[in-house]
Amino acid sequence: MNVLVTGGAGYIGSLTTLCLMQAGLNPVLLDNFSNSQPQVLDCLEQLAGRRPVCVTGDVRDLALLEQTLVEHSIDAVIHFAGLKAVGESVRQPLAYYDNNVQGSLVLLEAMRRQGVRTLVFSSSATVYAEASEMPLREDARLGPSSPYGRSKWMVEQMLQDLARSEPGWSLTALRYFNPVGAHPSGTIGEDPRGVPNNLMPYIAQVAVGRREALHVFGNDYPTPDGTGVRDYIHVQDLARGHLLACQQGHGRDGFHVYNLGRGQGLSVLEMLKAFELACGRELPFVIEPRRSGDLAAYWADASRAEDELGWKAELGVDAMCADSWRWQASHPMGYST
Ligand code: NAD
Ligand code: UFG
Repeated sequence: MNVLVTGGAGYIGSLTTLCLMQAGLNPVLLDNFSNSQPQVLDCLEQLAGRRPVCVTGDVRDLALLEQTLVEHSIDAVIHFAGLKAVGESVRQPLAYYDNNVQGSLVLLEAMRRQGVRTLVFSSSATVYAEASEMPLREDARLGPSSPYGRSKWMVEQMLQDLARSEPGWSLTALRYFNPVGAHPSGTIGEDPRGVPNNLMPYIAQVAVGRREALHVFGNDYPTPDGTGVRDYIHVQDLARGHLLACQQGHGRDGFHVYNLGRGQGLSVLEMLKAFELACGRELPFVIEPRRSGDLAAYWADASRAEDELGWKAELGVDAMCADSWRWQASHPMGYST
């Protein structure tokens, strides 16, 4: 199976590429490297024993996409390419609608023209409305609160409409909860530009001495220890979810949506403790006011993915922290070290 992986040089895309290669599929990456480094291709070659084909370009380039689909006889697409910072999306909404919505529209048009009908799309738990009942099931009320979340919701609606328009489309949206961790070898991991927005890369940079202390955003939430609770999922489990969605989606008509999470909430302080165990020392933290837009607590009901895809998260918080630490300790400055 030849699979086009847009955004395949990124954090989740690169580890999914490796998972596809190890399962005997042929991924073809397409990335504009706006948030990734070409060195990841060397790491993939080292781990998989062969170098994946990589097209440097933008998902909004219709001619390039059509050419790539034809030249590489693509059977299915996994679409990761896009922007992902919630706060930035509030300040630059048009960049988010352009990259995430327009990018998906162009990709779908290229697929329609070239007769490629299977797509797996990176959606997010952020599409759910606030104050939904926990755990979140796929049929919970939707209503994202940021332009980033709305861009994901818009694409899901496009996929749903497209699947209804004619038979033959197999379109799957995977709603990730909080992906963390790295490849267990420590060779591939998350390498955010600038100050990390997300909890785990921030903790990892404190552990390696790049940042002084973790800023804990709020300790007055209605949660057991007052800090925010999320459903963290190991990126290796997430990668396997894409493999299964891609294999099982191929030839299965319609629009399908799945939560990918562990079904267990962990607080900021619990994550910090787990990381301290992994790196072997106490890590400094300071309590700050709540971060605007954050919810107190949410976690997934991932039983639909288990029932229909045969997918279940296998790796726990210890592996998430140990692998993340292995990556950070061996690459203190990310891919540039
Ligand atoms: P990432 O930034 O590491 O990877 C995205 C990749 O897409 C990068 O390599 C970037 O260079 C590329 N890219 C961006 N815009 C592009 C464009 N217009 N054309 C071609 N390439 C482009 O992010 P990630 O964490 O691997 O996330 C992958 C996907 O999963 C994104 O769509 C993101 O919104 C979604 N997602 C991520 C999280 C998370 O917490 N990491 C959670 C939910 C959903
Ligand atoms: N947090 C801190 N300090 C930090 C960073 C985060 O205390 O420096 C806290 C947050 O307040 C929150 C928790 O850690 O309680 C997790 O925050 P993240 O920024 O790591 O993740 P979010 O839950 O805010 O959002 C992430 C991705 C989104 C995605 C969402 C899906 O950033 O893109 O998960 O659940 F949509």
